[in-house]
Amino acid sequence: MEPISLDMPRRATPEAQLKRQLSWLGEHWAWTMRALVREGRAMTALDVGCGPGLVMELFSPFLNVKGLDIDPDMVSQVREKGMEAVQGDAQDLPFDDDSFDIVYCSFTLMWLPDQQRAVREMERVARQCVACLAEPDYGRRSCSPPEVARLDKGLIRSLRAEGADPFTGRKLDRLMRNAGLEVDLGTYDGKWTGARLKDEAEAEWNALSQAVKGFVDAETLARAGSAWDAALANDRLVLINPVYHAIGWKR
Ligand SMILES: C[S@@+](CC[C@H](N)C(=O)[O-])C[C@H]1O[C@@H](n2cnc3c(N)ncnc32)[C@H](O)[C@@H]1O
Repeated sequence: MEPISLDMPRRATPEAQLKRQLSWLGEHWAWTMRALVREGRAMTALDVGCGPGLVMELFSPFLNVKGLDIDPDMVSQVREKGMEAVQGDAQDLPFDDDSFDIVYCSFTLMWLPDQQRAVREMERVARQCVACLAEPDYGRRSCSPPEVARLDKGLIRSLRAEGADPFTGRKLDRLMRNAGLEVDLGTYDGKWTGARLKDEAEAEWNALSQAVKGFVDAETLARAGSAWDAALANDRLVLINPVYHAIGWKR
């Protein structure tokens, strides 16, 4: 495959959404990464698809992290925060073999046209391991009440229309094995109910209804909105959106 053009337009995930993701999963990510760091060694890491550098900030206290993103605005934002970043394509990493102790990504593979090529590239430039910290699988989403669940297909269609692979989570194990890595795979169940959901409900409904607009009819959306409000008021709204993670060890 030809390298993709570095100046082609693509959708950027809003920073507010990245911050929400970090607030759900950042604690797990920091725990995972700390466990990978060998005591007493200054270790280096590459964040592939680093975005504005939120995850890099989380790891900077204990890892020497460099970011890479295809979007020059993201690279500038990381640099403004005083961290190192380069513009580049995850599918064609501009680094020599074995350049970093750990190479990781979060919510990045799902946006790549050739995920396998990117994981092979991550394996190539890693010395110790590759960590895919989070890739969702919208095909395994399960919501209640049913009026809300009826938006799931629209959500999958909207992600596809934006160039994402909504089923990346289930592919993680195979992508890493094909790259020659020994894999530790897991999932976060992404289950939201009760008080936790109440705090997030408004932002989540805004993100969901915005995403499916144009991919479900207006009546389905309106019914889902009413059912959402009623279920939330009665503490019966349930959203389950599993997110896969995997560590791939070099042999
Ligand atoms: C959803 S954001 C995730 C950002 C960050 N990893 C996080 O979790 O906060 C995906 C990022 O991947 C970047 N990206 C998309 N295609 C890429 C490619 N081919 N090479 C490198 N980065 C890419 C986007 O510009 C975006 O910043």
